[in-house]
Amino acid sequence: MSKPFPKNSFLQGNFAPVMAECDAPELIIEGELPNDMAGVLYRNGPNPMYPPLGNDHHWFLGEGMVHAIRVEDGKASYKNRWVRTDQYVAQREAGQRLVGTGFQDPGVAGAENIKRNVANTNIVWHGGKLYAIDEGNSPVLMDGDTLETQGSYTFEGKYEYPFTAHPKIDPQTGEMLFFGYMATGPGTPDISYGVVDADGNVTRSEVFTAPYASMVHDFITTDEHVIFPIFPATIDVERITKGGPTIAWDPQVSTMIGIMGRNDSTETIRWFEGEPCYVYHPMNAYTIHENGKTKVIADLAKYSRVPLFPDADGSRPPADLSTEQAKIVRWTFDLSSNTSDYTEEVLSDVPGEFPRLDERFAGLKYTQGFYATIKREEEKGNSADTIVHLDLNSGQTKEWQPGVGHSVIEPVFVPRNQSAEEGDGYVVTLDYNAEDNLSDFVVLDTNDISKGPIARVKLPTRVPFGFHGNWRSLN
Ligand SMILES: [Fe+2]
Repeated sequence: MSKPFPKNSFLQGNFAPVMAECDAPELIIEGELPNDMAGVLYRNGPNPMYPPLGNDHHWFLGEGMVHAIRVEDGKASYKNRWVRTDQYVAQREAGQRLVGTGFQDPGVAGAENIKRNVANTNIVWHGGKLYAIDEGNSPVLMDGDTLETQGSYTFEGKYEYPFTAHPKIDPQTGEMLFFGYMATGPGTPDISYGVVDADGNVTRSEVFTAPYASMVHDFITTDEHVIFPIFPATIDVERITKGGPTIAWDPQVSTMIGIMGRNDSTETIRWFEGEPCYVYHPMNAYTIHENGKTKVIADLAKYSRVPLFPDADGSRPPADLSTEQAKIVRWTFDLSSNTSDYTEEVLSDVPGEFPRLDERFAGLKYTQGFYATIKREEEKGNSADTIVHLDLNSGQTKEWQPGVGHSVIEPVFVPRNQSAEEGDGYVVTLDYNAEDNLSDFVVLDTNDISKGPIARVKLPTRVPFGFHGNWRSLN
């Protein structure tokens, strides 16, 4: 490597990339994996293949690396691979970084011809396909077993818009619902919306215009509605042209929440308006009918401003994610009213990020949530140290904290079996131990996660913190 990685909190410790791709066929396990647990935990995250070109490095823009921990017959194996995007291949051939890792880094001369795609944000199994996704491009297909990259995928040319890193899979129909922002070009407020059936065939694709152009990281679906939340992390072409930041906190505009019926046209989207805030990740949403009224209930991890991006005037935000953690809140939208207001209540006094649920209840009334939080005062930084299990009926939480020097990531729920009650099963996550500089795959029993892991799989490498992961059941 021609130069070292610079000092940047998102390139240090377990945010730093790993340079090895490996296959570990059988791993040491402390404790016992559940006998009937059979599946793969896929994880994706930025893993820059070369150091940044300049000082303008952003965590979100490193090339994606996918990690797979496979569990079957009480045994576990591990594999990791970079996603071979056009950007990855061009840079590997050149033996150097060509595309910048900063939002305002133009890259080296000639790099503008390379398709920028990092495919680093999520890794989703649907309809027998494994999708590596960032939110600005078509998904990249990978082989679910070998992690071999199969290439950029546009659903046989039927959906060529950007594809969110957070598609939603309807547990009742098996459909995958998705959107893409800046659908008709950089800086446009246009959003695409699409649906594929359980086999991956496109059944719907249309485009609508949001109230303003912004970074739209996620959305929510229920069995009856689709919710498009638009937050003031704006993308303002005029500001960018004047040399201002590409994505910036811009509280002069309101939060706008668009809701439409699942079977309705995007022309029918109704916009609700609220205080400026930012949500990277909702936990879930559902539709209820009570006293003749139809309401949409949406639970989200809400920040008072967008983390990790500057103010519209270019001034920098706090770089530390522990400075303000997201509150877990519930928004209620009364679709029977004439108002554009919505109400908010705080669901837990434990803040956090990476909210997840028992996915069998995605879009349906549910009671169990899981997320990660930063609790330890003495070690505050950008990595989570505690897993939280929230009972939405009681508001009570149970927590697991692996101890000093350990960090955790997004918890993923795995049902004990297909007929298990909601939330009855396991939470799988990774526990990074700074002293050993290695990660463990850990299994917590949702009967009481505070008791600690029932199994710890010793991975042969550390897995950088990254963004998101999902469980593919092999049962
Ligand atoms: Fe995300």
